[in-house]
Amino acid sequence: TICPVIMAGGGGTRLWPLSRSGHPKQFLAPSGGDRSLFQNSVVRLHGLAGGGWQLTPPVVITNEDYRFMVLDQLAASGAADGAIVLEPLGRNTAPALTLAALHAQGPGADPVMVVCPADHGISDVPAMTSALRVAVEQAATGSVVVLGVPASRPETGYGYIRSAPAPDGARQVLQFVEKPDLPTAERYVASGEFHWNSGIFVLKASTWLAALEAFRPDIAAATRASWDARTTDAGFVRPGKEQFAKVPSESIDYAVMEKCAGSPFDIRMVPLDAGWSDLGAWDAVWQTRPHDDAGNAFEGDAVLHTSRNTLVHATSRLVAVIGMDDAVVVETPDAVLVMKRDCSQDVKEVVAGLTARD
Ligand code: GDD
Ligand code: MG
Repeated sequence: TICPVIMAGGGGTRLWPLSRSGHPKQFLAPSGGDRSLFQNSVVRLHGLAGGGWQLTPPVVITNEDYRFMVLDQLAASGAADGAIVLEPLGRNTAPALTLAALHAQGPGADPVMVVCPADHGISDVPAMTSALRVAVEQAATGSVVVLGVPASRPETGYGYIRSAPAPDGARQVLQFVEKPDLPTAERYVASGEFHWNSGIFVLKASTWLAALEAFRPDIAAATRASWDARTTDAGFVRPGKEQFAKVPSESIDYAVMEKCAGSPFDIRMVPLDAGWSDLGAWDAVWQTRPHDDAGNAFEGDAVLHTSRNTLVHATSRLVAVIGMDDAVVVETPDAVLVMKRDCSQDVKEVVAGLTARD
């Protein structure tokens, strides 16, 4: 059995001020169209049925604050039977995946989880489906499988994977490095040996729980305590709040993936060539938008003069930029962001500071 798991609880804070905590980017349709990024993630996985595999309804792990958006958007995607697990507060993705695994694992049930972030673009869905089918076969034998995208620029917001062919034709992960600094990322890209972690993982529920137990028993125990105190109401599953507040905050990547290579846990990589994009931060948006001859990209009402390699995103007013290179300017009705493009990852910290100020 395959159990689709969608992680949809992030705040999308690095795309502030476009993405707001009340309405994060995964529930928006940034490139137009009538489906949100979250809905696209759900619909893409319908295609996994068949090939001898049963598909369970999706499990969505999200924040309490987003429950109605998820409920509406699931129904509108033809997945009204999906399960919705609500975190009372954000503890990053390792606890979120643990809740999904505890939910998916029933008496006698240990499905292969296909774990997808809700905030990605994929342009070639059939190619993604075939990569996932390969990954599912490997995960069924107990491997941890990550989908990797050739690393083509020194992006510091991604995980990096070095791999080598294994005797069975699959690729063994030799090294997994989450969010390296710029000089390291530059070295990795120059070597030509690295893939980016797409953030899509395929593994059995029991494999995840065993790996977490091995590497972060504190997260495993605290999350389990919260799960044991869960309540269910109108289809929403709510882990115990007091217990969940005690769960350490950590991502899947730091908690488990970085530690699997060279450990007794078998970790594999399946290459993904499906037009993957993660518009996680403003520099990635600049990279993927069309540029003019001076390398500028803009959306909305913008005028650029003697500026190069700059991104302007205006939603409600005219924005003029003069004599600035490698900058990002984002204008919304109540907040404006101006920064150097290579500071894009820092937006998260600034937003955290703003939240603390409120
Ligand atoms: N349920 C839940 N709870 N979901 C969460 C939480 C949480 O606390 N935090 C984040 N998510 C969701 C986000 O909505 C997103 O869909 C996904 O989990 C990944 O989280 P991000 O915060 O966007 O991670 P990242 O972009 O910094 O890094 C990850 O993705 C990169 C590729 O996009 C890592 O896996 C990197 O290694 C990877 O390269
Ligand atoms: Mg992301």
